[in-house]
Amino acid sequence: MTDKPPPTRAPRFRAIAGIALLALIVFIVVLVTVISNSEPGSSEINAESYAEEVAAALANADIEIGGDLVYELECNLCHLQGDGSLSPLFFGLADFASERRPPLPAEQYLYEAILYPGAHLVEGYTNAMPNNYVERLSQQEVGHIIAYLMTFTDETNGS
Ligand code: HEC
Repeated sequence: MTDKPPPTRAPRFRAIAGIALLALIVFIVVLVTVISNSEPGSSEINAESYAEEVAAALANADIEIGGDLVYELECNLCHLQGDGSLSPLFFGLADFASERRPPLPAEQYLYEAILYPGAHLVEGYTNAMPNNYVERLSQQEVGHIIAYLMTFTDETNGS
């Protein structure tokens, strides 16, 4: 009499394999759901997303401080230099920001783009943008930056 007869091992292995397979299927389903929800116009965002935060951040926003922050934080190295092949340039941003992630209005899109860059990628770019501004910036600082970015119309180009 051995304490563990061999025949019970195979069913146990099959059960474990079955559970692993099930976990894999669940994982894939969740992954596909997450990916499809992060596409433009997904049900996760609506015109009111970030609206309160942005209104509060913009209430006392200062364009000049925003400009200083963009240089201090070196956003300019990616967004105001080069040919725009690695990072989208800010030029004209205020004019097309509201078209980037409908139905988000321009300022709310910019808010998300700065604090949660992984939520939605600008078409044609990888997620090379630092994703830790949400820890490094206060809401007021984000407000200053948004106000500054909204000066990048086709006509003024950030002056
Ligand atoms: C290392 C390069 C890099 C740095 C530094 C960087 N970004 Fe970005 N940023 C990117 C890239 C790449 C994208 C496009 C991918 C994406 O949507 O996240 C992007 C996207 C954006 C967008 C969306 C632009 C559009 O055309 O729709 C905004 C707004 C933005 N960044 C703001 C900032 C601000 C503000 C800072 C500094 C606090 C900053 N970025 C720092 C690389 C960078």
